[in-house]
Amino acid sequence: MTFLFHSDVRRGAIFREAFAHDLPDLPFSMDPGTVDPETVRYLITWTVPPDLKRYRNLEVLFSIGAGVDQFRIADVPDHVKVVRMVEEGIVRMMQEYATLAVLSLHRDLPAYLDQQRQRIWQALAPVQAPERRVGVLGLGILGQAVLERLKPFGFPLSGWSRSPRKIEGVTCHAGSDGLADMLSETDILICLLPLTPETRGLLNADLFSRLPRGAGLVHTGRGPQLDHEDLISALDSGQLCGAVVDVTDPEPLPAGHAFWIHPRILLTPHVASVTQPHSAAKAVIDNIKRLHAGLDPTGLVDRRRGY
Ligand code: NAP
Ligand code: GLV
Repeated sequence: MTFLFHSDVRRGAIFREAFAHDLPDLPFSMDPGTVDPETVRYLITWTVPPDLKRYRNLEVLFSIGAGVDQFRIADVPDHVKVVRMVEEGIVRMMQEYATLAVLSLHRDLPAYLDQQRQRIWQALAPVQAPERRVGVLGLGILGQAVLERLKPFGFPLSGWSRSPRKIEGVTCHAGSDGLADMLSETDILICLLPLTPETRGLLNADLFSRLPRGAGLVHTGRGPQLDHEDLISALDSGQLCGAVVDVTDPEPLPAGHAFWIHPRILLTPHVASVTQPHSAAKAVIDNIKRLHAGLDPTGLVDRRRGY
């Protein structure tokens, strides 16, 4: 029984050390070229290797990241458990990024950066936090963690998920009626949804038109959820006042893409949150111990839902 680490060697070295310490009896390999494929029970990777079928005794496919949309799950044999990364480093970084993005929009940073480039020294009317409503699409691990971190600022908070949720201090909505209700009362919208057939293209002109005029967008879900042209139109018409965009389709964006130079877009290269190897190794080790104890791993993906 072998654990195969199929990702960058720097993170792999940290995993190797943690596995040697906590699971000394589980052989650990970072080399698909020399490992006996028959022995591989656990594989961690970002994308599914094209020769996945050679690991005939694979039991668990771990994603090195929080998302699993990069796996074509249909190509993964049914008996293989697919597990996304749930680890405290990803959570902490997403809390930081979402806070940075929300405060940037709340305090009109896109407009002030634009004014700076034009050498304009002019104060804009400030809006106070209790009048700035923040809504989060996706109330999973990351959506909830972001809401928790935003609480002390005093923004009225809301969130949207597929199944109804109860979160203290957050107005929770579910389903398509719930989405319409939430959008009409959201001044800064954060997307933290997984990419599925239902969420692909969700951030489009129709959704933007249901937000109050002058709302802001923070997109930290997945690139294909956002219609790029619709975002530009919404910004140019003033329907949206600014957007912080971390994920795009494609990644990276082509050199001539409008997002690079749009004065109302703050663009980052898919860095909102990055798996931290020490805490990730601990999370995967805990999951293997759970599996050995006959328990489901944390982050087990429901294949039918796709997340
Ligand atoms: P999660 O725990 O699985 O939570 C997903 C949430 O989305 C759940 O609340 C779920 O609703 C909701 N949802 C899914 N489909 C929906 C739909 N059709 N309608 C309404 N709600 C829906 O995921 P997570 O760990 O929070 O991560 C979320 C996503 O963040 C990842 O999948 C990834 O795409 C993105 N991410 C981005 C970065 C970055 O650096 N930009 C880093 C990490 C993750 P239920 O509660 O009803 O199931
Ligand atoms: C990054 O986007 C991740 O899914 O961890």
